[in-house]
Amino acid sequence: MPELNLVLLGPPGSGKGTQGERLQEDLRLPYYATGDILRGAVRDGTELGRTAKEYMDRGDLVPDDVIVGVIGERIDSPEARDGFILDGFPRTIPQAEALDAKLEELGRGVTAVLQIDAADDEVVRRLGGRRTCEESGHVFHVEFNPPQREGVCDLDDSELIVRDDDKPEVIRKRLETYHAKTEPLVDYYDQRGVLRRIEGTAAPDEVAEEIRRALATMRLEQDETV
Ligand code: AP5
Repeated sequence: MPELNLVLLGPPGSGKGTQGERLQEDLRLPYYATGDILRGAVRDGTELGRTAKEYMDRGDLVPDDVIVGVIGERIDSPEARDGFILDGFPRTIPQAEALDAKLEELGRGVTAVLQIDAADDEVVRRLGGRRTCEESGHVFHVEFNPPQREGVCDLDDSELIVRDDDKPEVIRKRLETYHAKTEPLVDYYDQRGVLRRIEGTAAPDEVAEEIRRALATMRLEQDETV
C-alpha cells in the first residue's frame, strides 16, 4: 500500500479535529495536530509553550520557524514512515513550502489535502458551543454533540473546558487570520492537483463518509496511473 501523507485544511471550527480523530482510527496513521501540540506545550510550561501562548491567546499564528521545526521532527520519525495526518499545518504559504522541502528531502510528497469548509457564521456557532476535554483534547458541542454528563468528558471523566481562544472576540480574529494567511493554500494545493474539497456543513458522520469516498476515489486514480 503506498504511503498516505494527508493534510486537513479548513477554517477554525470546520471540524478538522473531529474528522482527524476518526481518520486516525480508520487509517491507523500518526495524527499531528499543531493546535493540540502547542496547547500541550503551554500546559507543560515549556519554552515552546511560553513562546506560543501570547500568539494563540490573541488569535494570531505563531511564527513559521517555530512551528516548522516542531512538525519537521515528527514527519521524519519512524512512526510516520507509512504516512501521517496533519491538522492545522501548514497554515501559511511559507509553511507549505517548508513541508514540501522536507518531504522532498525524504523522497516523499503530500498525497492529498482535504479541505473541510464551513461558513464564518457556522464557525462562530460551533466554536461558541465547543467544550474540550482538558486531558485528551476530545471535543464536544453543547448543542450538536453534547457529553452524557454536563462538563465531563465521556472518554476519561476529565473536566471539559472552554478554550481560551474560543471567546467571541478571539474567534473573530482567528477567522480573519484564516482568510488572510491560510486560505491562499487552497489555490496552492489546487494547482498541485492534490486538493479534495469536502463539504463541512453536513453532520459529522456524513462528513466522515464524504472523506472516505474522496480517499477511495483518490486511490483508484492512483492505481490507474501506475
Ligand atoms: P488549532 O487548535 O489548530 O485551531 P483551529 O484551526 O482554529 O481549529 P479548531 O481546533 O478551532 O477547530 P477544528 O476545525 O478542529 O474543529 P473541531 O473539530 O474542534 O490552533 C489553535 C491556535 O494554535 C491557532 O490559532 C494558532 O495560534 C496556533 N497554531 C496552530 N497551528 C499553527 C500553525 N501551523 N502555524 C502557526 N500557528 C499555529 O469542531 C469545532 C466544534 O464544532 C466542536 O464543538 C465540534 O463538536 C463541532 N463540530 C464539528 N464538526 C461538526 C459538524 N459537522 N456539525 C456540527 N458540529 C460540528
